[in-house]
Amino acid sequence: MPYKLLFVCLGNICRSPAAENITNYLLQQQNLDGQITCDSAGTISYHSGSPPDRRMVEAAKARGMTFSGRARRFDPADFEKFDLILAMDRDNYADILALDRKGEYHHKVRMMCDFCRHHSLKEVPDPYYGGPEGFNRVIDLLLDACEGLLEEIASERLDPSTTPRSH
Ligand code: 4NP
Repeated sequence: MPYKLLFVCLGNICRSPAAENITNYLLQQQNLDGQITCDSAGTISYHSGSPPDRRMVEAAKARGMTFSGRARRFDPADFEKFDLILAMDRDNYADILALDRKGEYHHKVRMMCDFCRHHSLKEVPDPYYGGPEGFNRVIDLLLDACEGLLEEIASERLDPSTTPRSH
């Protein structure tokens, strides 16, 4: 069974599709595709069905990456379907946990920036209302976080049943 990752942001058109596509890019580079699978979702449904934001796609293209996918809203059934759920910012984290009324899945939900090894930001900043530099920064941060995440999984240090909650 592959290890299943779900990346979550607000709209599912900028940060979480970037995290999903960057992870797939790294998995392909490392010949690990198939062992780990990823998906992404948003906490709101406003952009459901939309492809990744054009500005995000352009920033990725400049780094040699092709982004694909369609936005969807986070579904409470995702708690069962995925091994690990990565929130881009604290609002996303709180919104996800609010849907886990019994607290059964809190151990599966982590902040994406917990896995950064070079950047010190604690959240992936929302680039939606800013300029192109915000989209480039999202890619830089996520390359760092996704690499760190894959290393943790590969080294089997990341067992959701034993990982303490970080937030
Ligand atoms: P994302 O960015 O959460 O990274 O996909 C946003 C997309 C849409 C909106 C805000 C952030 N919005 O307000 O519609």
